[in-house]
Amino acid sequence: MKYHIITWGCQMNEHDSEKIAGMLEKMGHTPTKSYEEADIIVFNTCCVRENAELKVFSSIGNLKRLKNKNPNLVIAVCGCMVQQKHVAHKIHERFPFVDIVLGTHNTHRFPEILECVVSQDQRVIEIWDESKDIVENIPAKRDSNIKAWVTISFGCNNFCSYCIVPYVRGRERSRKPQDIIKEVKKLAEEGFKEVTLLGQNVNSYGKDLSEEVRFSDLLYKVNEIPGIERIRFMTSHPKDLSDDLIKAIKECKKICEHIHLPVQSGSTSILKKMNRNYTKEHYLGLTEKIYREIPGVSITTDIIVGFPGETEEDFEDTLDVVERIRFDSAFTFMYSKRKGTPAAKMENQVPDEVKKERLQRLMDLQNRISKEKNMKLKDKTIEVLVEGYDSKKNLLVGRTRTNKLVYFEGEPKRLSGKLVKVKITTPKTWTLEGVLVAQ
Ligand code: SAH
Ligand code: SF4
Ligand code: F3S
Repeated sequence: MKYHIITWGCQMNEHDSEKIAGMLEKMGHTPTKSYEEADIIVFNTCCVRENAELKVFSSIGNLKRLKNKNPNLVIAVCGCMVQQKHVAHKIHERFPFVDIVLGTHNTHRFPEILECVVSQDQRVIEIWDESKDIVENIPAKRDSNIKAWVTISFGCNNFCSYCIVPYVRGRERSRKPQDIIKEVKKLAEEGFKEVTLLGQNVNSYGKDLSEEVRFSDLLYKVNEIPGIERIRFMTSHPKDLSDDLIKAIKECKKICEHIHLPVQSGSTSILKKMNRNYTKEHYLGLTEKIYREIPGVSITTDIIVGFPGETEEDFEDTLDVVERIRFDSAFTFMYSKRKGTPAAKMENQVPDEVKKERLQRLMDLQNRISKEKNMKLKDKTIEVLVEGYDSKKNLLVGRTRTNKLVYFEGEPKRLSGKLVKVKITTPKTWTLEGVLVAQ
């Protein structure tokens, strides 16, 4: 059969989709990019903000037409969204043409469930409340053959008051270091050049293991694996980013100088209500240390505007932090109420118009800073890992160690997966353009 997977959400979800694709291919199924051609359609969903969820519901609704045309089509809805009981219920009631509903803790059960649905013509809804053991060796079919996501921990224990992730992904579970190393070694043997170690909070990696191991210890081990040229990781929580991590970034040649460090808000009183466990001053001090210790580092962030009770003064604290730290880039979001989280019940919810206006001011400021920071790279020659070819722009595309996208002319076949030097000619707000420097 032919399968088509659509993914919403974060890198964790992207990687889960790669595992679903891997399992489907092991069963002998093949990919297709077309909805019409597909015999199996998988939606891997996200519920971190309401608009993510609304998009998924409308996309599920659109599948009815395909199912009417092809009654043998198998439709599966997986991922974070269905892990919420009211959503699983709604899909069951309102979308009878959905055949499989599968939560985040039992993705590995996909092949068995699919067999059951196909052979017995039944609907299966299977959602576990928690993960039993970490299931290793699920074959992943990765999108790229140059860079790979590697999950180092699942779930989250932080319970930031706005966030649904701990409810839909469960408690933090770290993979054993030896399993991670084995996976990275295999990737290196297959020719991968870059790995990104993934966890909701990589800095608390290992705290739940019987033999305690720090995230920095893991990094030193990954750094020794021959063939891997670049190591990235995300996400870092400002309350847990330790000196030994900064030291590891300085000492390990392969670790890229980029830290994604979500600040969420610049106001200490809002941070307290968010249950983030740090203050504005702590964050400013931490970033100052990072800039001082790691030359050329880029720092990126996530920011929420309009958290319940956020006053104009609180918001100005956020602008102040952005102005002072000068992030390389930022993902900016309007606060979105998530059912079951403490913030959803808080008083003084901020009206939509105020959120929109604050988001615009924040984006204007950040865009100006991103552009100014990129302008400093004009005429500089920078190392770029070539990731592939952009057929719309007719240019090669790659990234700097600091995670900036670079476009330039060159031969895709010869250069893909190679580290090259590019002289930056045209810095823009989001991307850089340049020319290949003779090798
Ligand atoms: N574990 C990561 C990523 C979590 S989700 C971290 O802690 O940073 C990615 C981002 O979505 C968060 O950093 C936050 O900025 C945003 N986010 C999460 N819940 C949200 C909500 N209810 N409304 C708006 N943005 C939210
Ligand atoms: Fe959500 Fe906070 Fe955990 Fe990130 S650290 S996933 S924002 S609860
Ligand atoms: Fe990721 Fe969205 Fe789930 S951000 S962890 S896919 S809720």
